[in-house]
Amino acid sequence: MDGMSIVKINALTVPSDQRETLEQRFSSRAGVVESSDGFEWFELLRPLEGTDRYLVYTRWRDEESYRAWLEGPMKAAHQGSGGGRPAAGGSEVWTFEVVQQAAPKPKEG
Ligand code: HEM
Repeated sequence: MDGMSIVKINALTVPSDQRETLEQRFSSRAGVVESSDGFEWFELLRPLEGTDRYLVYTRWRDEESYRAWLEGPMKAAHQGSGGGRPAAGGSEVWTFEVVQQAAPKPKEG
């Protein structure tokens, strides 16, 4: 990796009776983010312990890549499936810089 990626996490507060709706919306998400320049990773994280907020984890090559997505494709990707009231009652965006990372070593053999 040349240069350090950034992580943008959207922390969603979801009433318990809206969890299923939220997950369904993500199941039928636009799938646009995958094609954005500088996009590196996405995960929808369902809370099990320690918090009841869902986290939308995204990793980007740099801030500019995230901004470009936010100001363009993100809007389209967020207006599709909502219909009625949003499943999330609140959201908060956190920004991190990747300082170190590791992946498992390939097995010998
Ligand atoms: C403003 C509050 C936000 C809410 C309530 C929200 C909620 C949602 C929901 C319900 C979906 C599923 C698709 C849909 O229903 O349209 C979605 C998609 C997504 N959200 Fe958000 N979101 C918000 C802002 C953000 C922000 C700031 C990020 C940046 C980390 C983000 C990252 C994503 C990504 C990557 C997808 C998938 C898009 C794709 O498939 O192309 N969201 N969001």
